[in-house]
Amino acid sequence: MSQNFAIQLENVSKTFGRRRKRVEAVRHLSLEVAAGQVFGFLGPNGAGKSTTIRMMMDLIRPSTGTVLLYGRPVQNNPPLLQKVGALVEGAAFYDFLTGRKNLEVLARTRGCYDPQRGQTLLAQVGMADRADRKVSGYSTGMKQRLGLAAALLHDPDLVILDEPTNGLDPAGIQDVRLFVRDLVEKQGKTVFLSSHMLSEVEQVCDQVGIISNGRLVQTGNVADLLSSQAMIRLEVLPLARALGLLLPKWPTVANGRWLEVQAAREHVPEIVQQLVAAEVQIFQVAVQQQSLEALFLAATGGADA
Ligand SMILES: Nc1ncnc2c1ncn2[C@@H]1O[C@H](COP(=O)(O)OP(=O)(O)OP(=O)(O)O)[C@@H](O)[C@H]1O
Ligand SMILES: [Mg+2]
Repeated sequence: MSQNFAIQLENVSKTFGRRRKRVEAVRHLSLEVAAGQVFGFLGPNGAGKSTTIRMMMDLIRPSTGTVLLYGRPVQNNPPLLQKVGALVEGAAFYDFLTGRKNLEVLARTRGCYDPQRGQTLLAQVGMADRADRKVSGYSTGMKQRLGLAAALLHDPDLVILDEPTNGLDPAGIQDVRLFVRDLVEKQGKTVFLSSHMLSEVEQVCDQVGIISNGRLVQTGNVADLLSSQAMIRLEVLPLARALGLLLPKWPTVANGRWLEVQAAREHVPEIVQQLVAAEVQIFQVAVQQQSLEALFLAATGGADA
């Protein structure tokens, strides 16, 4: 059964420090990530994303609870970690070596040196033409791209990426998005990535877990999560009639000249049709982009965001 899960966290907690310096970075986190998908781990700064990822990689130990990868405990299990490639915060490289040489050194220590694979990966992360420059001259985004290539060197089944688009420009973010989808769709891998940007998670992930203040506050299918939270705004005349028409079916309030309808995006055609049939005039329709904050508030009931 558990073999279908790439990652399972069972009631995992992590506490740093003692007494007044005590920080509960991760609290009773249970989570299952099925293989063959992109799972987004979404949360604001300090939510506990990197701490969780470090525990998944056995870089730090949980205070309580268990981390399983492919059904087996990750603790003291180097062969299991062979199946994992990771980009954790601030990937470290030798500054005085070129990007290509850095990959070579890493590949040799992992016993998987293959110049052709290095070259392919460099091309995939858009670093082919900069691979022979020293890392000391790389920008943050270039180091991030090299970090992605490094995570993939040994062809892992599970790819764990901690804020992979950190430091990247919009084109770079798009590249990573395509790269990640490709890993799952064409290469059959599983990707777990963390982010504090809802838009990023929305565009690349199949499932999402929202972490706030060390707690997992919601998990689910990305599309469902967002659409259940959507707000459709309509500028209509006459307002009262439109309100009367929509209210029986959707929670709706009038706000100035606008109606604000809580409904999924898929309901826009139906709503518009209903209003037009009743000869309500529609001037504007907008589906409001949900902010991460709004999602947190909805997920936590406003108590823990
Ligand atoms: N080694 C440590 N010692 C003490 N406290 C720590 C340590 N590592 C993390 N923390 C604390 O644990 C909490 C969670 O930190 P973590 O780095 O996991 O958050 P994050 O979600 O990755 O945030 P960001 O988006 O800023 O990267 C924070 O309050 C942080 O200060
Ligand atoms: Mg972090």
